[in-house]
Formats: sequence, structure tokens, C-alpha cells
Amino acid sequence: MKLDKIPPVRDVFSSKMGVIAAAAGSAVGLGNIWKFPYITGVYGGAAFLFVYLGFIALIGLPIMLSEFMIGRKSRSNVFGAFKNLAPNSPWKYVGLLGVAAAVMILSFYGVVAGWSIDYIVKSVTDSFASKSPAELGSMFTQFIEKPGLPIFYQLLFMLMTMAIVIIGVKDGIEKYAKILMPVLIVIIIILDIRAITLDGAKEGLYFLFHPDFSKLTADGVLSALGHAFFSLSLGMGTLITYGSYIGNQNNLAKIALQVTVADTLIAILAGIAIFPAVFAFGIEPSSGPGLVFITLPNVFQQMPGGFFFSILFFLLLTVAALTSSISILEVVVAYFREELKIKRTLATILATVMISIVGVFCSLSMGLFKEQTLFGLNLFDLLDWISANMLLPLGGLFISLFIGWYWGRKSIEEELAKGSKLSRGLITAFIFVLKFIAPGAIAIVFLNGLGVF
Ligand code: PFF
Repeated sequence: MKLDKIPPVRDVFSSKMGVIAAAAGSAVGLGNIWKFPYITGVYGGAAFLFVYLGFIALIGLPIMLSEFMIGRKSRSNVFGAFKNLAPNSPWKYVGLLGVAAAVMILSFYGVVAGWSIDYIVKSVTDSFASKSPAELGSMFTQFIEKPGLPIFYQLLFMLMTMAIVIIGVKDGIEKYAKILMPVLIVIIIILDIRAITLDGAKEGLYFLFHPDFSKLTADGVLSALGHAFFSLSLGMGTLITYGSYIGNQNNLAKIALQVTVADTLIAILAGIAIFPAVFAFGIEPSSGPGLVFITLPNVFQQMPGGFFFSILFFLLLTVAALTSSISILEVVVAYFREELKIKRTLATILATVMISIVGVFCSLSMGLFKEQTLFGLNLFDLLDWISANMLLPLGGLFISLFIGWYWGRKSIEEELAKGSKLSRGLITAFIFVLKFIAPGAIAIVFLNGLGVF
């Protein structure tokens, strides 16, 4: 490496636990607890879940490892990573695609995180007490359609995200993620126990685990693919950015496996907390983005200590959203810092303001602007759909082609040899998946979902 090419001194995660907590903190978030149950409900339950699990194992895990490798090798933001590893080629535009996806995702992500903050307040003020499922439903709808309060909480959330990202990787991101993730898991398990002991819970478990593949549509399969990327934080360079902070002594394959398993388990645990309750309380499983916010308050009402648990749950949901939102913002900030040479604090403020402006319109598209639609989707749903179902799978397609075809076996072996000893057979399988299986499957699902076939 020429002297002028040596990257400036960059942050590095301080420990292996810190790496796992930060990466799992990014993966586990609203995607697992809010989005997974609601889209599983919309697309008919177990069949969707099984296709999603297939995509996680076959495509998600290898692409996660690829992102870590690209990040650690290049020690760069998502744009710089492709620029460094494939100089003078168009690969760097994959990085720009990632930055665009990050802006879109955080715009609507902040809205939902804002709802979660409002639900902490509602829990503290005991607002769910003695309300019927129907009343809890309209409470949610009326709230998200308001122009004021949801935006206030959304901006508050964006401010918190900004503050942590300004503090930086080691002191901000790593420290918070390490403490709070395990607490969230414990509370979801407590909710599971309550949910599966409700009268009528069986039907919910049947819905979640007994597949009827005839219900599956092309759109459902594309959404399962998109959600695999969304939930694992893949396809836009979040884990390339985090990978760039991982030390050479860490075993990337093991970290990727641990993060993938943790993320998937938490989504399933969230599903087990939600669907039995959905059926027990007669809520429509396909009722959309409000599913968690309507269903769980019913559960809290019916459990000893529900008042306390509901505060804790929405608090931790907000924290889980925060450990993900900081990873999304970090993609944009690292790009601004390293490519546009803007200092961390200013870069973070600029990115936050930009994203918050789009985000405010996302929030307004729930009420005031709900008639303004494109392809039948309001701005919130449109950004969600385009980013999760188009940009992330496209990003994933390019990442798999990059590692599978551009990098070649020697570079792959070299990078994987740092901190781990993968057998030759496993490496061969990994390369085969990245060369053929992942790009092929993504292309087919993508074109099929868009109605090209
Ligand atoms: N994985 C996060 C979640 O499930 O909530 C959301 C997310 C984070 C998506 C980072 C994409 C990303 F790059």
C-alpha cells in the first residue's frame, strides 16, 4: 500500500463482545418487533415465515459475511470501500445506492420509533387501562394521523440518534448496545409466556407455524426477501461500515452467524408474543403497521404487572430502534466524513437534518397527506417498499457479485484467514453461493415480484 493511501486513524471496536453487540444492535430493531409480525400477518403467516427463513440462511448469512469482509479489508465507508477495492470502476456507485437507501430507511424508521416513544408515555399514564381491543385500535390510528405529537417524538428520536453518533463508535454505539440488548430479550420471553397462555392462543401459533404455501404471492416472496435484508441490516453497507471498525483478530464468519441467529430468534420470539394475542383478542392479523401497537397493549392489560411491563417494553423497543438507527445514520455520516471531508459533528448534524425533513413528510403521509399516493402507497409505505424491496436486494445482488466474481478466491481466503480457520469446503460453498445462488435467487425473486415474468 502506498504511503498516501494509508487510511487516517479510524475507530475500532474495542472488544469482540462490542462488535457482536453493535452488529446485533443494528440488526435487531423495529424490523424484528414491529415490521416482521405485521408483514407476516399481511402475507398470510407461516408460509411467509418459512420463505423468509430460507432467504436468511441462503442469502442473508453469506451476504452479511461479505459485507464484513468488504468493510474490514477496505477500512472505509460504503462508497470508499468499493472505490478502494475496485479503483476506477463503477462499483463505487453501489455505495451511493447504499447511502440513498440509508436516507430513505431512516426517514420512516424515525416515525415508527417516535410512535414507540409516545407509547412509553401512554404506558406511564396508564392510557391502555380498561380499553377494548377496538378502542385500542382507534387510539393508535387517531394518534398517528395527528400532525403534531408524532412529529415531536420522531424529532426527539432523531436527536437522540444524532447525539450518540456524534459521540462516536466506541463510546456511543458500542457501550449502549452491550447493556441493553440482553434486557430486551428477557422481556420478550416474558411476553411470550403470557401470550401463549391466553385463551385462544393456539390459533395464533398455528397461523405462525403451519404453512399454507398456496397463499403465497410473488409480492409476498419479494417482501420476504426484502425483509431478510432489512432485518439483518444488509444491502446498503451498514455492515460494511461497521465491518470497517472490526479488528483483524476477530472471526468474521462466527460473528456473522451469531448475529444472524440472534436476529432471527428475536423475530420469531416477537411473532410468538404477537400472533396468539392477535387471535385471542380478535384482531385482524393483516391489520398492518399498527399490529404491535394495538395487540400488545391488550396483552399488558391481561398480565400481572402489565403496567410495569408495558413501560419497560416500549422503552426497550425504543432503545432497540436506537441501536439500529445509529447504524443507519453512521452509513451516511461515514460517507460525509471520508468522501466529502466534513467533520464528524457537522456531518452528523447535516445528515440528521436532511433525513428528519424527509421523515416529517413520512409522518404527515399517515394523516394530512394520506390521499397523496404513488402506486397506491403513501410516502411512508413508498419509501419502505422502495428501500426494502428494491434497493436492499439490489445492493445485496451487487455485493454478492462483487465478492463472488470480482474479488476471487485468493482475496477471500486471505480475508477469512484473519481470525478464523474456515475449511476449504466451506469456503468453496460460500463462493458458490455468492457466484450463482444468491444473485440468481435475488434476480428471479425481484423480477417475479415486479411482475416481469
Ligand atoms: N435491521 C434493522 C431492524 O430490523 O430494525 C433496520 C435496519 C438497520 C435496516 C440498518 C437496514 C440497515 F442498514
